[in-house]
Amino acid sequence: MSANKKLLLLPGDGIGPEVIGVTRRVIEWFDKRGVLSFDMDEGLIGGASYDAHGTPLSDETLDRAKLADAVLLGAVGGPKWDDLEFSKKPERGLLKIRKEMGLFANLRPAVVFPALAEASSLKTELVSGLDIMIVRELTGGIYFGEPRGIEDLGNGERRGFNTLTYTTSEIRRVGRVAFELARKRSGKLCSIDKANVLECTVLWREEMTKLGKEEFPDVELSHMYVDNAAMQLVRAPKQFDVIVTTNMFGDILSDCAAMLTGSLGMLPSASLGAASGGRLPSLYEPVHGSAPDIAGKDMANPLATLQSFSMMLRYSFDLQDQADLVDRTIANLLASGLRTADIMQEGKAKVSTSVMADAIIRELDKLSASA
Ligand code: IPM
Ligand code: MG
Repeated sequence: MSANKKLLLLPGDGIGPEVIGVTRRVIEWFDKRGVLSFDMDEGLIGGASYDAHGTPLSDETLDRAKLADAVLLGAVGGPKWDDLEFSKKPERGLLKIRKEMGLFANLRPAVVFPALAEASSLKTELVSGLDIMIVRELTGGIYFGEPRGIEDLGNGERRGFNTLTYTTSEIRRVGRVAFELARKRSGKLCSIDKANVLECTVLWREEMTKLGKEEFPDVELSHMYVDNAAMQLVRAPKQFDVIVTTNMFGDILSDCAAMLTGSLGMLPSASLGAASGGRLPSLYEPVHGSAPDIAGKDMANPLATLQSFSMMLRYSFDLQDQADLVDRTIANLLASGLRTADIMQEGKAKVSTSVMADAIIRELDKLSASA
């Protein structure tokens, strides 16, 4: 590779530093072998940033994130910061970095590894071979709409309010990402809304339909109401391939889809902005949260973060072979029976985060030696 790519690591809170630490070892492994080298930099986000700087995301860290070629984030939040005022909460740091970096498309694949099909809470035959891609709009909708707040009505009553809003261009740009993905996969896209109740998603449905007709006539577009989609996801998940939906529906449905795979600890994500001048704003993070109950106990599952790194290799750097190597490593480890506590099954070997990390490095050595 030519000039080193700049990578910003934001471990965050809870198990964030542990899972990022494992991926850091993998990056160093690649680096040592001269396959890829990154300039790695580290910063604070969430509660860790609040403790150090009094804010969940400092301007300085945000600037570094904007300059990086890609950002890898661990997780934010924990009970320690539960009582902070709203604007200082760890989650605000995450929402701010997504918004400020313009990361409007959140890709959340839910893939069932053959070795884990039995770990799902659904029947094995319903989930084996499952491979869904949820595209969640990430910088708009009710998460960011104005007005918002809690007001005093003066009569002992208070009123809380948020606004669900989408513009044509906000819908179309995330729609394009989803249609492109669908085109590369099965050629089918399901757009999820609540157009029977919410005007904003009537517009969503109309714009998705128009976009499909105008630019993606080869992709088969269907629509589903979100309540039905939630039901279908647990009834017959394999009917879905690519899903596109609003910020909040995507938040909810992606947790549901995650569970289909056997563990939230297995789900990676990519958040992408608009490519311009050869640059793609991008941030990668595991979907699981900071899991404060197991933080610091060497129990966390590092595989969602590692898969997020593999998505980075694919989407930000077009390094398909290296991404394949990482993915194969993960599949082999699972097939060999290694399990962190969250995906432990009878007859398998329960291992700590650090034992899993050692095994990852050994498997990388093995696979690359036999390549
Ligand atoms: C997620 C999380 C975040 C979200 C929280 C932590 C702000 O649930 O990434 O799904 O709601 O987007
Ligand atoms: Mg969520």
